[in-house]
Amino acid sequence: MNVHGSELILGIVGTGIMGRGIAQLAAQSGVTVRLFDARPQAAEEARVAVGATLDSLAAKGKLSAEDARAATARLQPVASEAALAGCHVVVEAIVEDLRAKQELFARLERIVGPDCLLATNTSSLSVTAIASTCERPGRVGGFHFFNPVPLMKVVEVIDGARTEPWVGEALTGLARRMGHRPVRAADTPGFIVNHAGRGFGTEALRVLQEGIASFDEIDRILREAAGFRMGPFELLDLTGLDVSHPVMESVYEQFYQEPRYRPSYVLRQRLAAGLLGRKSGRGFYSHEGGKQQPVPAPELPRGERRPVWVAAEEAGWRDTLLTLVRAAGWALDGGDRPAPESLCLVAPLGSDATTTALALGLDAERTVAVDLLFGPERRRTVMTTPVTRPAFLDSALTLLSADGTAVSRIHDSTGFVAQRVLATIVNIACDIAQQRIATPEDIDAAVTLGLGYPRGPLAWGDALGPRRLLKVLEAMHAASGDPRYRASPWLSRRARLGVSLLTPEN
Ligand SMILES: NC(=O)c1ccc[n+]([C@@H]2O[C@H](COP(=O)([O-])OP(=O)(O)OC[C@H]3O[C@@H](n4cnc5c(N)ncnc54)[C@H](O)[C@@H]3O)[C@@H](O)[C@H]2O)c1
Repeated sequence: MNVHGSELILGIVGTGIMGRGIAQLAAQSGVTVRLFDARPQAAEEARVAVGATLDSLAAKGKLSAEDARAATARLQPVASEAALAGCHVVVEAIVEDLRAKQELFARLERIVGPDCLLATNTSSLSVTAIASTCERPGRVGGFHFFNPVPLMKVVEVIDGARTEPWVGEALTGLARRMGHRPVRAADTPGFIVNHAGRGFGTEALRVLQEGIASFDEIDRILREAAGFRMGPFELLDLTGLDVSHPVMESVYEQFYQEPRYRPSYVLRQRLAAGLLGRKSGRGFYSHEGGKQQPVPAPELPRGERRPVWVAAEEAGWRDTLLTLVRAAGWALDGGDRPAPESLCLVAPLGSDATTTALALGLDAERTVAVDLLFGPERRRTVMTTPVTRPAFLDSALTLLSADGTAVSRIHDSTGFVAQRVLATIVNIACDIAQQRIATPEDIDAAVTLGLGYPRGPLAWGDALGPRRLLKVLEAMHAASGDPRYRASPWLSRRARLGVSLLTPEN
């Protein structure tokens, strides 16, 4: 199918939020768009709304007035499904209901020509199941856009079990024509983006559930140390628990209770309490007048100067600790063993402070651990053993904030906060690659564009070090016994071989 010609006619069924966005993109790229909706007037309302959007883009200088007029003229509301007869492609964006989508496609097959491609914008249903009741399931594919469609510049092109190769190729070409980055994915729960996105929220919830840190501290660490635009709890509040918790449960169940995607009772309970987030005025944060109210970071106590003895597992990290101590002008304890009153500052990878103190034969009452996986420049995270004396913690906080860098204090945890969340995200992305759901490049593109992470998870894993992330996962798996932390074979092999996580199978 030639999706590049000026004669291409695209039908859109369901002219709600998504249908309108898809219509706008298609019309702007020179495609004739027929709009149909089961609710009378809805298609006409969509034409008016998209026309107004195009006009306002023209007023802002983002589009010429002539292009806006031409695009609006390509929008053709129609009053019946029968008017979709001449379409080359029909995209459905109706209610998220399997029966409704199957029945629609069955009716459309009797209307459209034999070469017409039928695409579904479903986010959570199986494309294979939607196609299964069609006479020609081979012509059905997934075309999954994100909201808001014009700004989220990625579209997942989904191959169902019986989708013919030309369908994916045509949808890929059409996505490019519409100015979006197509990513190809096998028909699996959550496709790429909603699958890869499981790690961020579920692991942050585990950290909260284990009492390691408060929700706002977890957000601060992941924003300021790891570099996410939003913390997981801000994101949950923005999306609304009524949307995010069912998605978590659905992906978990669809993968037959794969422990990596296990949701948290914390969310179910908060959902029951009506603490939905911004839309209900209160979630993890309070949202007065629709605005998230900040939670101030706790004041750091001031502690006494004392000699500092340092140890780190990773090459270079001991030097980083030495530099921090010297820059603050504190005395170093350079002995083989720490002197009786020295602070023992350690930088573990994967292990908790307790395990590190015991492994090194240190006094757990004087041991404080700092996370160096993300470098020492950004917000630093420190954790204590259950018996670290407050005076030693206060000294460590004073030392580590001496240069003005923010410091978060958490309770003892295998893998701190950012290490375990990043290791989880990278591990899930590796398993998406391992299952051949998508190529490594498409996984990274889908996550960067669809979730707004600062980097694709596989490239991010490379930057942090696959061997290091494997170590974090193995430590978490050993400490918890929870199979959610078992390393994906994709990660484990590449880490041990010392090659990039983007390395495909040959
Ligand atoms: N909103 C999102 O963030 C988002 C993102 C990606 C995918 N999706 C998927 O896109 C689809 C549409 O979502 P939306 O948010 O645009 O919904 P919406 O409620 O805004 O719009 C749905 C439209 O479909 C119409 N409709 C319902 N049943 C119909 C039928 N049988 N025939 C014709 N029209 C019918 C409704 O009248 C309505 O105008 C769903 O499958 C949804 O899962 C939504």
